[in-house]
Amino acid sequence: MTPEMIDLARRNAAQGNGGKGYSNVEFHLAMIDNLPLPDSSVDCVISNCVINLATDKNAVFREIARVLKPGGLGGERHCIKAGITGRA
Ligand SMILES: C[S@@+](CC[C@H](N)C(=O)[O-])C[C@H]1O[C@@H](n2cnc3c(N)ncnc32)[C@H](O)[C@@H]1O
Repeated sequence: MTPEMIDLARRNAAQGNGGKGYSNVEFHLAMIDNLPLPDSSVDCVISNCVINLATDKNAVFREIARVLKPGGLGGERHCIKAGITGRA
C-alpha cells in the first residue's frame, strides 16, 4: 500500500457513483498491527490476504480485538481463515 493508492481511493470515493460521492468510507495508510482507529469503534474487520503476511500475528489479533465493538466480527480470507473467523 502506498500514499498514491490511498489518494486514488479517496478520489474515487469522492467521485462515487455517478458523481455522488460516498460519505461512509475512510482510507488509512497503516500497519495492520497498529490501526489508527479508536478502541471499540468498528463493527467488522475483514482482511483479504494480509494477516498471513504479518510477522507478529498475536499483535494483529490484539489490535483487531481492540478496535472491534463488543460483539463485532473479525474475518480473514486466506491462509488462516479458520483461526479468526467468528465473534470477537
Ligand atoms: C496479497 S496483498 C492483498 C491486497 C488486498 N487485500 C487484495 O485483496 O487485493 C497483501 C497486501 O498486504 C500489505 N501488507 C503486508 N504486510 C502488512 C502489514 N503488516 N500491515 C499492513 N499491510 C500489510 C501489502 O503491502 C499488500 O498490499
